[in-house]
Amino acid sequence: LRDGATKYFDFTVIGSGVAGLRYALEVSKYGSVAVITKAEPHESNTNYAQGGVSAVLCPLDSVENHMRDTIVAGAYLCDEETVRVVCTEGPDRVRELIAIGASFDHGDDGNLHLTREGGHSHHRIVHAADMTGREIERALLKAVVDDPNIYMFEHHFAIDLLTSQDASETYCHGVDTLNTETQEVIRFISKVTLLASGGAGHIYPTTTNPPEVTALRTGTSELDISSPSSDTSVVTSSYMYIVATGDGIAMAHRAQAVISNMEFVQFHPTALADEGLPIKPTKSRENAFLITEAVRGNGGILYNLGMERFMPLYDERAELATRDVVARSIDDQLKKRNEKYVFLDISHKPRDEILSHFPNIASECLRYGLDITRQPIPVVPAAHYMCGGVRAGLHGETNVRGLYVAGEVACTGLHGANRLASNSLLEALVFARRAVKPSIDHMTSSGLDLSDSNLWARMVVPVSLGSDVLADSIRRTRKARKELQSIMWEYVGIVRSTTRLKTAERRIGELETEWEEYLFQQGWEPAMVGLEACEMRNLFCCAKLVVSSALARHESRGLHFMIDFPHLEESMRLPTVISPVKSTWSS
Ligand code: FAD
Ligand code: SIN
Repeated sequence: LRDGATKYFDFTVIGSGVAGLRYALEVSKYGSVAVITKAEPHESNTNYAQGGVSAVLCPLDSVENHMRDTIVAGAYLCDEETVRVVCTEGPDRVRELIAIGASFDHGDDGNLHLTREGGHSHHRIVHAADMTGREIERALLKAVVDDPNIYMFEHHFAIDLLTSQDASETYCHGVDTLNTETQEVIRFISKVTLLASGGAGHIYPTTTNPPEVTALRTGTSELDISSPSSDTSVVTSSYMYIVATGDGIAMAHRAQAVISNMEFVQFHPTALADEGLPIKPTKSRENAFLITEAVRGNGGILYNLGMERFMPLYDERAELATRDVVARSIDDQLKKRNEKYVFLDISHKPRDEILSHFPNIASECLRYGLDITRQPIPVVPAAHYMCGGVRAGLHGETNVRGLYVAGEVACTGLHGANRLASNSLLEALVFARRAVKPSIDHMTSSGLDLSDSNLWARMVVPVSLGSDVLADSIRRTRKARKELQSIMWEYVGIVRSTTRLKTAERRIGELETEWEEYLFQQGWEPAMVGLEACEMRNLFCCAKLVVSSALARHESRGLHFMIDFPHLEESMRLPTVISPVKSTWSS
């Protein structure tokens, strides 16, 4: 470990959600670990998880049941071996989490309280009320803070992976980061890198993923975008970051990693519909507040605005059908009836039960004048989870030597065409552990000389332009982001068609070219990096991967529904694979 702009560690972990932290706690027994995270350490999708972690912990349940539910939900596109591994190892991973300090709800019999969600044939969701992720993140972060071998680098934005190539393989040697507080580029070099940077919810305008966060930068003379008149004498400035902008998928794609199944974007059926609330939020939210699937698991019923229960018309499992089916059914109701939201009602259940299981949802709704123990909740679907990602083997290994993946950024084959509820935290826990042994083997056996990183790294420099120019670039970048999101919602949403996907492809291409040309006209150079420009480039990359994967799948399967190919095609029961491309500034 050296001070300064280049730091050496045995292991570099990108991301401080469940996947990154769980892995860090294991590999720290074998060497020094840098955990790099773009915001405050707790800011992650993990921290927002509500429903829980699925695992076979009840004697009436079985691994075979959990496997079957996962494969049916995944529309038969799951990798069976991966499903077996995750369902088999899951219970031990949950027990380990409890041993680390996570506290979950117990029933009157003293056993873990297991709830149920859509697509599950049994009660198997371990939870901490409706704030399971917060509890997991709390426990893992505490353990990490107590671990002397783990060094946390918060407000470090991972820009690009450092790679080299020989005749047959690509190797990863770490990552370049931008310290967003000091605006310095810091290089992290290590033989092993775990990418655990989560999802890409913000390619859509409405997502359950964490909202934009405003951070303060002190002691510098950087610009303040929120105050157009600010000048360079300002010593405190603000900047924004968004957690889930698909940075990891885009970085891996540029680093020649194989990407898979990007057409399968999961829309959660029930996010709170602000416009249906008695008191409207004064400022429109940057993300959608989730109403956990456990509400339906506990007997919640979906009605249209005419108070007609509609799910039995679409699927015999009714409200407990899988997410793809429920989201599509709601979408159909909204379009047919020209309504803006539907209702999810749990008010027929005992008040105490509702309040003890869903305290966070109850209090969030009450802020806007809605008592969920007496009134139905207005809900709409929102982008929630990326089933695709960096293609991984059974140990989180990728086609890039020294690069491992775990969590939402990975495509392990578990979810197939549609993730089963509460299988994400589980997958992250299982793969974070499975990646440990090959990481250690690679760290000890790799003979790579890491001493001259200039040989295999593209040089990047923090953007240095006048504050007015920078403020304009940021405004223009935010505008491009909103435009991209609205194209994705309009043309690449829950129901798709070839014509609409082609329109999206063309419009995204034009938008990206315009945006890049604008930046170059303003004086940006290819080597310059700024937080929001990097996020934007990654959003463009992920959006294009989703569109091209969707265009390649000529069938309807799971989350990918095409009007012009409405049926499942047996010949297409294969993952979509996007092979490595040569990286450029515009990816
Ligand atoms: P995350 O927890 O998202 O962590 C990613 C980390 O990477 C963050 O620390 C982020 O800051 C960092 N990062 C990202 N980009 C960069 C970069 N460029 N440089 C540096 N750091 C970076 N799943 C379930 O199984 N059960 C549930 O009940 C559940 N509920 C959910 C509720 C909500 C509202 C949401 C949004 C998701 C829910 N999910 C649930 C999904 C699940 O929470 C996530 O898929 C899972 O937590 C992902 O964990 P992760 O470690 O892969 O990524
Ligand atoms: C929820 O609580 O509904 C989210 C569960 C998940 O995303 O798996």
